[in-house]
Amino acid sequence: MQIILCDSPEQVGARAADVVEARLRQGPTVLGLATGSSPAGTYRELIRRHREESLSFSQVTAFTLDEYAGLKPDHEQSYHSTIRREFVDHIDLPLGQLHTPRGDAADLVAEADWYDAAIVSAGGIDIQILGIGANGHIGFNEPTSSLASRTRVKTLSGVTRADNAGFFPEGEVPRLCLTQGLGTIRDAKQAVLVALGENKAAAVRSMVEGPVSAYCPASVLQLHRRAVVILDPEAASKL
Ligand code: GLP
Repeated sequence: MQIILCDSPEQVGARAADVVEARLRQGPTVLGLATGSSPAGTYRELIRRHREESLSFSQVTAFTLDEYAGLKPDHEQSYHSTIRREFVDHIDLPLGQLHTPRGDAADLVAEADWYDAAIVSAGGIDIQILGIGANGHIGFNEPTSSLASRTRVKTLSGVTRADNAGFFPEGEVPRLCLTQGLGTIRDAKQAVLVALGENKAAAVRSMVEGPVSAYCPASVLQLHRRAVVILDPEAASKL
């Protein structure tokens, strides 16, 4: 696990964008995308490089990490809509090359199996962008998720539902989700995790210095052959 300590959130976004750009320059890339506030600066920087430095995403195939169950892709709060709004609609990635699990699938278990197989069929993820939850989750792999898990249906924890309550009318926060598993994420050839702010500091410490444990799902990255963790001073403050 390589740890990069940055001076500011802007520098975190720039360093993460450097890692992604280096892979894109090598040729066609399967890119794993995370939603959430952590990678927002990375996406802003990649959009800027697309606009000002002709960085192209036309040879990218993208897979998002997770999706709320019960939401249609065009629901304002679906991760499909979110990743389009915050990133994909601002670059030259053809929409047909963006894949997200269908949260509105009639058979969610079959959808999860299909999604995991689609990633394998695409040749596997070359570079996976990740954030981390305050409880150490990655994707929606909440604490106690199996370290070998594949893409599957999960129940959202009370903490995660409370964290996301502001995005939904009262009583409408989803209870279930589809998420790439920790085994799926570990299969990515390279992983880039970005963390910002003091409320991530304890989770970052468990991920980097704690035991590899299902109680801190992100600690599975200690077993990854090529994981880069990029931190601002607050997120790194408990290391
Ligand atoms: C969400 C997402 C994760 C994300 C995490 C942290 O629940 N499923 O992919 O990394 O929580 O979110 P944020 O970056 O907004 O703090």
